[in-house]
Amino acid sequence: MTIQETQLCVIPGDGVGQEVIPAAVAVLRAVMPQVQLRYAEAGWETFQRTGNALPEETLAAARQTGVVLFGAVASPAHPVPGYRSPIVALRRELDVFANLRPSRCWPVYDARRDIDLLIVRENTECLYVGRERREGETAIAERIISRHGSERVARVAFQLAMQRKGHLTIVHKANILRVSDGLWRETCLAVAREFPEVQTDEALVDSVAYHLVRQPGRYDVLLTPNLYGDILSDLAAALAGGLGMAPSLSLGAGCAIAEPVHGAAPDIAGRGIANPLGAILSVALLLRYVWQRRDLADVVERAVEEVLAQGVFTPDIAPPGQQPVDTRAMEQAVLAALRA
Ligand code: NAI
Ligand code: MG
Repeated sequence: MTIQETQLCVIPGDGVGQEVIPAAVAVLRAVMPQVQLRYAEAGWETFQRTGNALPEETLAAARQTGVVLFGAVASPAHPVPGYRSPIVALRRELDVFANLRPSRCWPVYDARRDIDLLIVRENTECLYVGRERREGETAIAERIISRHGSERVARVAFQLAMQRKGHLTIVHKANILRVSDGLWRETCLAVAREFPEVQTDEALVDSVAYHLVRQPGRYDVLLTPNLYGDILSDLAAALAGGLGMAPSLSLGAGCAIAEPVHGAAPDIAGRGIANPLGAILSVALLLRYVWQRRDLADVVERAVEEVLAQGVFTPDIAPPGQQPVDTRAMEQAVLAALRA
């Protein structure tokens, strides 16, 4: 995918999104000074002020640039009339159908040493289409899996597997969900035949959860439907240093949204102690997979690695007994490593 290299729509959002996105932007500016930023707003705060969580100007900016850096948004715990999650709406609007969530071993004390994998998650279908209803005392949710939806995300996953170790595992539960996961499995296996260079196998989602904990090193690329990918990627993030470290990138045809996996973190928001590395590593994903600047992505990831190896940690990743730094100090440490 080639996208006009210089434009990025930045949506910090709510809570710690406002704290981690400036750090990610500073890192991006350091490696790609020519990038043109367009700031836009979305989220709960925006909704409370304007009555719209995803204003028309924000949508227009996202459509025009095609590439978005998104922080996080807070959602009210109870349903609020007129409020719908802006990030879900934005993903749908840009039709970003492939969600990439890499997990690798960073030098963090409680991270697993034997993990280096990429989860490629279908991002538009499955139970997340939101077709739920009540029939008396029974609740029914529809699960949509289409050949088109499965095929397009499978192609992305196989192409990425070719750039990695050339090993891909198709995740499903087709022994129980014979029709829906049956179609998913059949479609992914058909795409596999287009990529004979990739060593392909398949596994049941529960078995993948088990093996991820026992021996994560056995996986390279995991190709999953929406719900399984959501759950397995949180598990993988926990193994690889925690939510504060976890980046993600959603890809569509000519569009992309980079966003840390974590949410608005109301328990720590406003204190300036959020870990900005998930957001910074999301920028690295933009550089690597959207702007085709693998060189710059490597530079950013090496800087992060170096800072962690020096023992610079925010509270969420600091070993017991070690004095942590705040968001700004972590940002400055990464910028210093980039300059070195
Ligand atoms: P969360 O990811 O915001 O927080 C979970 C835990 O991880 C908290 O203890 C938090 O302090 C910690 N954490 C998260 N990000 C961190 C960071 N950068 N540095 C250090 N610690 C970090 O998930 P939670 O609590 O389930 O949701 C809070 C709010 O965020 C809710 O309103 C939820 O709807 C929203 N949310 C938004 C997402 C998005 O915009 N993509 C994703 C997940 C949740
Ligand atoms: Mg999730």
